[in-house]
Amino acid sequence: MTFQEQYDLYRSMVEARLAEFFPGPGLEEAMRYSLLAGGKRLRPVLALAFCAAAGGDPAAALDFACGVEMVHTYSLIHDDLPCMDNDDLRRGKPTNHKVYGETAAVLAGDALQAAAFRIVLQAKGPWTIPGAPAHAALALAEAAGEKGMCLGQYWDTLGTGVPDSLEKLARIDDKKTGDLLRAACMMGVIAAMGQGPVDPSCLDAAMGYAAGLGLAFQIRDDLLDVTSTPEALGKPIGSDEANGKTTYVTLAGAVECGRAVLRYTQEAKTALRSGAWPSDTGFLCALADALTIRES
Ligand code: IPE
Ligand code: IPE
Ligand code: MG
Ligand code: MG
Ligand code: MG
Repeated sequence: MTFQEQYDLYRSMVEARLAEFFPGPGLEEAMRYSLLAGGKRLRPVLALAFCAAAGGDPAAALDFACGVEMVHTYSLIHDDLPCMDNDDLRRGKPTNHKVYGETAAVLAGDALQAAAFRIVLQAKGPWTIPGAPAHAALALAEAAGEKGMCLGQYWDTLGTGVPDSLEKLARIDDKKTGDLLRAACMMGVIAAMGQGPVDPSCLDAAMGYAAGLGLAFQIRDDLLDVTSTPEALGKPIGSDEANGKTTYVTLAGAVECGRAVLRYTQEAKTALRSGAWPSDTGFLCALADALTIRES
């Protein structure tokens, strides 16, 4: 199977499962609108791929994958609100608050987060070793909360002063973007651990991979905000400048952005190699490389 065929297969598993949630009207409709609006499904694909690399059946990781995508989608709904980035377009469609209003958008995000934890905790596996759902929920909670993505978003929007160095910017990016990617990778390994013994080096390697991937991903995101088009990106361009954001582009320039993306991607692949993986990690290397030239 080619890289693209494998990605599409994982992605279709995720799309089919996500479509089973929130069939109702009202609040559920607002949740469904953003959750099923497309998107790359990068985080759930990572969860499934890491489960496979660690020797598990990726189908067992499917509800962990859906949980992390729900937290991600909630973070996007809130990120687009007027009190945050004030954006009108997301995943090629009007943002949640533009369609349903701010109150419904806040609540749709809140409810997606609660549902995410319910779905992770109820994941059926099948598990031969108990505890995987609780372990996965803990990883997701740590990544999403006051020491994870929310802290990164807080620094990004309300933080004390603009980041004046690449190191400070990397700390923000590692929180706002890296932590959820890290949770996705970890939850995949944890799903494999629930099915049989996995060498502990795999969890460390997954975290190291996610750290490099997260920084590369956000730098590419900052670059595309300047160089892309709303049609290609599915979200507005120029949002960072309109919000007076300091990004890798403003601090280092576009050329250095390209170099940094490649450097952090290399770090991700190097970290991956430190794990004693029972199965092939070629897909994960190809994924990291593909993200360096992503256009959306
Ligand atoms: C957007 O994430 C927010 C960032 C962390 C930069 P994605 O680029 O993964 O968005 P979707 O899920 O494909 O819409
Ligand atoms: C947001 O970063 C990361 C999140 C936690 C949602 P951005 O604000 O740059 O993401 P986009 O560009 O709106 O997708
Ligand atoms: Mg933002
Ligand atoms: Mg934004
Ligand atoms: Mg952005």
